[in-house]
Amino acid sequence: MKTNRILTVTLNPALDRIVRSGKTTIFPGGKGVNVSRALKALGLVSMPLIAIAGTSGRRLSGQLRDEGLPPVLFILRGKTRTNTTTIHRNGMVTRIFESGPVWAREDVMRFKKFFASQILGARIVIFSGSLPVGVPSSFYRSLIGVAKRAGAQTFLDTSADALGEGIKAKPFLIKPNQEEAEAFLKCRLSSQRLVKKGLRSFLKRGMKMVLLTLGEAGLVITQGEEFLWARGPKVKGHTVGCGDAALAGCVAGMMAQDRLEDQIRLAAACGAEAARSIKPGAISKKGVQRMAGRVRVKQF
Ligand SMILES: Nc1ncnc2c1ncn2[C@@H]1O[C@H](COP(=O)(O)OP(=O)(O)OP(=O)(O)O)[C@@H](O)[C@H]1O
Ligand SMILES: [Mg+2]
Repeated sequence: MKTNRILTVTLNPALDRIVRSGKTTIFPGGKGVNVSRALKALGLVSMPLIAIAGTSGRRLSGQLRDEGLPPVLFILRGKTRTNTTTIHRNGMVTRIFESGPVWAREDVMRFKKFFASQILGARIVIFSGSLPVGVPSSFYRSLIGVAKRAGAQTFLDTSADALGEGIKAKPFLIKPNQEEAEAFLKCRLSSQRLVKKGLRSFLKRGMKMVLLTLGEAGLVITQGEEFLWARGPKVKGHTVGCGDAALAGCVAGMMAQDRLEDQIRLAAACGAEAARSIKPGAISKKGVQRMAGRVRVKQF
């Protein structure tokens, strides 16, 4: 039976620590977590599946529960990472990322079984972020295979080898940003013609849809028939997590069976709106609706 169950998968989540004007705030982070947060703002329930370790991991899951995003946990040894962003008085930003728990071979095997038990009945599974240390670069490829065999639509947002390998499993949709797409295609996406060529080259590899985000230049989407480019107003703000919010908007548009044009409008509005908040993926439905009115969509 088809359900509306959405699962986000974050293998290496983090406590995001923001230091600004001597004040520190800590909140749950990780790309799939950000997608779940944005989906919730759009009125969609999703289940964040996260791998955590130690007291920092327990803190992260507790905070997620408090946010109304109760996670499903996969427990590891070690300690969930804390990523620190310092916003200096002059506007300069420094970011220090930790690497997170190192996975043993046995963890990789154990996760695969755990994942298979969790995705039963899922309609959409979203894989977001880099792979933890110790996890083979083919891991998303293998998880996408499991999810597809269970009848779920799969979305992949990752980079480098994890993206290259993941694509081999032909996920339903990939969401590279410009840098990730250029690295994969070994080609600059510096004109509309090259962007279109790049999208075609992705589609040839078997994905049904590609959502390519281009920072403040907006985003493009294709399902092979239409090629649409959406551009919202430029926002001076915090762009970390804009891609996650854009992906959530695209998923929400799809769930509502919107036309492609409206799907991409919503995705662009979510991306731009996310830049207004320091907390990744923290958008408001009202803000998104306002922003959507300022998004222009064209065929190219
Ligand atoms: N400064 C900005 N002003 C307006 N909209 C923006 C801005 N930055 C990003 N966006 C919107 O958000 C979308 C996603 O941004 P971007 O391409 O930077 O994703 P990303 O690099 O994958 O981000 P992340 O991985 O941190 O979530 C863009 O396609 C655009 O619609
Ligand atoms: Mg991204």
